[in-house]
Amino acid sequence: MNHSTNGLVNVLISGASSGIGRALALHYANQGYCVWAGGRNLDALKSLMEVHRNILPLCCDITNPEAIKAASVSLPSLDIIILNAGTCEYIDEAKHFDGALFSRVINTNLISIGYCLEAWLPLLSTGGNLALTSSSASFLPLPRAEAYGASKAAVTYLARTLSIDLKKDDIHVSVIHPGFVETPLTDKNDFPMPCLVSPDQAAEIIYQGISHNKSEIHFPKRFTWLLKLLSLLPFPIWKKLAARMTK
Ligand SMILES: NC(=O)c1ccc[n+]([C@@H]2O[C@H](COP(=O)([O-])OP(=O)(O)OC[C@H]3O[C@@H](n4cnc5c(N)ncnc54)[C@H](OP(=O)(O)O)[C@@H]3O)[C@@H](O)[C@H]2O)c1
Repeated sequence: MNHSTNGLVNVLISGASSGIGRALALHYANQGYCVWAGGRNLDALKSLMEVHRNILPLCCDITNPEAIKAASVSLPSLDIIILNAGTCEYIDEAKHFDGALFSRVINTNLISIGYCLEAWLPLLSTGGNLALTSSSASFLPLPRAEAYGASKAAVTYLARTLSIDLKKDDIHVSVIHPGFVETPLTDKNDFPMPCLVSPDQAAEIIYQGISHNKSEIHFPKRFTWLLKLLSLLPFPIWKKLAARMTK
């Protein structure tokens, strides 16, 4: 673990104003890290700062590369970067495909990561950790997840490629594959969410995984292993099973 220019161990977490990112910010702050908490909602970031004095705001829209650069001018060198911000919207009627929705989800969950990497990776210390939040939805095609699933499958690919290319820089890359976590993002879901975990449980598992330089962090295991097994089925069989879920 390095101690950066401000004498503290610095972790940057995007999407820290809510849900998993907020729980992660508090978890790291409670462990003595200096947390740079990202998000667009300044009020939510301010309320987080009131909870813990180790938390500092990094307020910007990550789909806007100029806004990221402007917000990042005072960042010190970083020890851990967790690219966690994301959104989820479903395609309700594939025959009448909503291109604007597709673009919104891909921009927020995938394209923005390129802007974040460009701005923040040069600040990451040798021996540091980079973690990208994907989803267990990336394991296999799920109904209505054309936009969300495609964005997260691409995030997984991106993380694994970075893991290969950043090895020579001694940067450990983790891809995070959560199952269902109870957050504002999943509060909108109108279907059953098996094995739902709390944001605090998710934060503890992610913290441990990054601390141990795990290349993949997936949880809860009873749910993610089942999805991994189902992903081994021949696609025509999965297609029949998945089609039943939409009836
Ligand atoms: N909850 C789950 O079951 C689950 C499962 C698998 C994967 N995930 C992934 O986990 C991550 C966190 O999800 P969550 O459930 O904690 O959702 P959440 O409570 O809705 O939080 C999403 C976070 O992303 C930030 N964000 C969204 N768009 C942004 C933008 N354009 N610029 C900057 N920040 C932006 C939001 O901040 P502002 O609103 O302040 O901008 C918020 O802090 C996401 O990548 C999600 O896909 C979640």
